Amino acid sequence: MKNFCTFLAFLFLLIVSVRSDVIKGSCDEAAKDDPDHNIIKSDFCVASLKANPKSKTATIIEDLVPIAIEVAIANATATGSTVSKLLQNTTLDKFTRSCLEACSELYSNAGSDLQSGGEAFKSKDFGTAKFDLSAAMVAPVTCEDGFNEKQGVVSPLTKENENMRQLAVIPLAFIDIWSNDDKIPRNMFLW
Ligand SMILES: *[C@@H]1O[C@H](CO)[C@@H](O)[C@H](O)[C@H]1NC(C)=O
Ligand SMILES: *[C@@H]1O[C@H](CO)[C@@H](O)[C@H](O)[C@H]1NC(C)=O
Repeated sequence: MKNFCTFLAFLFLLIVSVRSDVIKGSCDEAAKDDPDHNIIKSDFCVASLKANPKSKTATIIEDLVPIAIEVAIANATATGSTVSKLLQNTTLDKFTRSCLEACSELYSNAGSDLQSGGEAFKSKDFGTAKFDLSAAMVAPVTCEDGFNEKQGVVSPLTKENENMRQLAVIPLAFIDIWSNDDKIPRNMFLW
């Protein structure tokens, strides 16, 4: 009985370690595959995925794609509210206001792109999924560039844009890894 309990404890630890490995392993690989763009940081990737409780049940990188997309959608929504709050400021100069209005629309579009990218992934249409997720990346870049067009204007959304860019690239990188890897059948251990 004691041995059996030890065995169960071992099995449990093994499963837990395999699960936490899929997040760390996938994030490390995504960061490694992205060296010249230098957008994905493994630590940020791990933290953002772990913030979603569903990531606990992920066993392979494929499972992490919809979770990463969900995290990115939540962030696009959160940043959308941040922009709305900034727009409530009645003393904003015209230029900043027009930039914020553009960002608001961009982030709303990014949310829809992420949504449709997630649906395409679910139906295994990886081409469309990648296309939509790439479109979502445009929002934070275009938003940030808008503020930089006028000297002396400081973007109030630099941190948010940086986050969003990374959060949109993560599922894209995961899909690339997933669709290039030789897929190990999910039920391999049941044979
Ligand atoms: C998500 O968005 C909010 C608001 O823009 C931001 O403060 C937060 O750090 C973001 N979370 C992640 C994981 O990037
Ligand atoms: C409103 O905008 C002005 C001009 O950009 C800025 O100086 C001020 O701090 C803002 N107020 C709030 C509450 O954010």
